[in-house]
Amino acid sequence: MGLLGTAAQRIVFIFLMSSMLSLLGCAQHNNTATLYERIGGQSAINTIVENLLYRIAEDEDVVGYFANTNIDLFAESFATQLCDISDGPCRYDGPPMDRAHQTMGITDAHFNRVVEYLDDAMRREGVPLSARNDLLGRLAPLYEDVMRLR
Ligand code: HEM
Repeated sequence: MGLLGTAAQRIVFIFLMSSMLSLLGCAQHNNTATLYERIGGQSAINTIVENLLYRIAEDEDVVGYFANTNIDLFAESFATQLCDISDGPCRYDGPPMDRAHQTMGITDAHFNRVVEYLDDAMRREGVPLSARNDLLGRLAPLYEDVMRLR
């Protein structure tokens, strides 16, 4: 009789193989989840941007930068950029970061405050620390561009 001689042995073998494959499948799924998915997708991003705007509105130092801004367009554009940069299904095609922030005179302190508000907004939305750090890590290199023409 061979290794898989009886029907019962075959069933046990198939059961073990499929358990192993589904375990591998789970591991695979966690490893390949995009940052966009780990943040919670577009509805989470939209809520995060809304929370961020409330925080900015309450900060009399920072809100001044937005005095002449169409807030709905800003919210949409920023949400698209967050979706794009987190490997979601969006392409940001707005102005480059240096042009979008030129002649605003943004200070380092105000830059840091906006980043802190964004982190708070993500935390309030239940985004895990690792995903928050990953997103902030992807935004950090944009600092140079945001500040280039200030
Ligand atoms: C990494 C940090 C930042 C990113 C990724 C970012 C991203 C963006 C994006 C995508 C837009 C919309 C551009 C458009 O569609 O016209 C925008 C606009 C704007 N951002 Fe930022 N931003 C950052 C930091 C800041 C900071 C620190 C401030 C102020 C303290 C600021 C103030 C503004 C204002 C006022 C506008 C609207 C400009 C307008 O009215 O045309 N941003 N930003």
